[in-house]
Amino acid sequence: MTDYYRNKVHSKEIIATFDDALILPGYTYFNPNEVDFSSKLGNYHFHLPIMSAAMDTVTEEEMAIKMALMGGLGVIHRNCSYEKQLKMVRNVKRARSFVIDDVATISPDEPVAKAKHFMENYGISGLVVIDDDSKVCGIFTKRDIPYMEEDCKKGFVKDFMTEDVISIAPGASREDALNILFKHRIEKLPIIEDGNLKGLITIKDLKPEFPLASIDEEGRLLCALAISPKFPQSQESLSILKEIDNYVDIFFIDVADFYKKEDIDGTKKLIELLDADFVIGNIGTYEAAEFILTKCNYPEDKFIGLKVGMGSGSICTTSIQTGVGAPTFYATAQVADAIADYSPKIGLIADGGFKNPGDLPKAFAAGADLIMSGHFFAGSTESPGYIDTIQGRKVKIYRGMGSKEARSTNYILDRYSEDSKMLPEGVSDYVPFVGDLDGVLQTLEEGLTNGMIYAGAKTIQELKKVKIGIITSIGQTEQRPHDLLGRF
Ligand code: XMP
Repeated sequence: MTDYYRNKVHSKEIIATFDDALILPGYTYFNPNEVDFSSKLGNYHFHLPIMSAAMDTVTEEEMAIKMALMGGLGVIHRNCSYEKQLKMVRNVKRARSFVIDDVATISPDEPVAKAKHFMENYGISGLVVIDDDSKVCGIFTKRDIPYMEEDCKKGFVKDFMTEDVISIAPGASREDALNILFKHRIEKLPIIEDGNLKGLITIKDLKPEFPLASIDEEGRLLCALAISPKFPQSQESLSILKEIDNYVDIFFIDVADFYKKEDIDGTKKLIELLDADFVIGNIGTYEAAEFILTKCNYPEDKFIGLKVGMGSGSICTTSIQTGVGAPTFYATAQVADAIADYSPKIGLIADGGFKNPGDLPKAFAAGADLIMSGHFFAGSTESPGYIDTIQGRKVKIYRGMGSKEARSTNYILDRYSEDSKMLPEGVSDYVPFVGDLDGVLQTLEEGLTNGMIYAGAKTIQELKKVKIGIITSIGQTEQRPHDLLGRF
């Protein structure tokens, strides 16, 4: 075992939290605009080393899409059926594909009025025209809608469509598609093979609107999904899970305490069954990480990360209810040691317990590659659920996955001790509405950037090497605003 943690906090026995720790200022040899907080997990590159938690009041498809567009990752929760998960992951993968698979089509014999109505209702600017033999015979766009009202009422698609369809073959690159679209000054490019429609490329989808987005090799958004470590019980569940696998890049095994024989064995079978990569968690100690890295024989090419932290989440009561826990800061430093000792390629995600932007640099300094939070994002526009008002304040609900309310479904029971029916391990409450995710992320980015500048770390790898001190409880009080009248 290395002395990573001991060096930082001088005693292995201190179970330190974010508030206990403080990064010591370092020499800043770079310009502020040179700070680079991009990070890696397996072969995935993230411009923003931040993830939204797999919780049902935090990450569904809207959050997952926005997080990925902004350069991070949203892990879709598992407190729902496989069917609902399938729908969500499919939508994430399709959100920014430059090839549309479900192309809107119409027959040449349909009235123009119907085409117009269809386009207006679904917000589509063009339809591919398909004849009775299922072959492409034209394209009908908004520009083809006749000017005269009478023609609209009585005319047919075949009378106004463009017959000479400019198309591209399947498998063409982004650049090829862009060249053709610009050359012909068109906005839509059907993908056609032997006269059959295979997809559609639009100029809108080719524009790099979010240049820092987390994307796969085909330019689609990265998609992550939480799953149980239990192997599906029915044939039906098994086949839906396999279909889900087609859209997911990273599965997150999602339990409160992964260091259990049953979960370790179940996960092994799932890794064999599914093609996507796996992050495993949560764990909280050096020993748990050592065991997983040395005794479990998970395939190196698919097991890409460990997620750590037990009981320090803002909605967690596990430590209080059971007397067991591993605060995220401590767990991060412990597991970073084990990863350094046995498997340096494995990524490390510090999960939960972040209260302020300044906690992010502390997590990276303790050894994390990425951080995960529910607390920061539960009150944003993109989280599931409605905005409520309490005493004139806008609020949203945020609930622990071990809360009584979240556990009223059957899906999440095995995240905790399954036999325990009465003991909640989380709470449910309102959090302030904080507006769009962009603003929340910007605050976090600024906290992280400024922390890196003060610490003298240009990259996350450098931040991992800075010195951390442990602060006394009196010192903690002094760190906060104090001796003020508190009238503002
Ligand atoms: P934050 O601090 O962001 O923490 O609210 C989110 C993380 O907390 C974990 N989690 C729970 N832990 N009881 C727990 O002990 C719960 O009910 C619960 N729900 C979520 C989870 O790891 C999440 O990412």
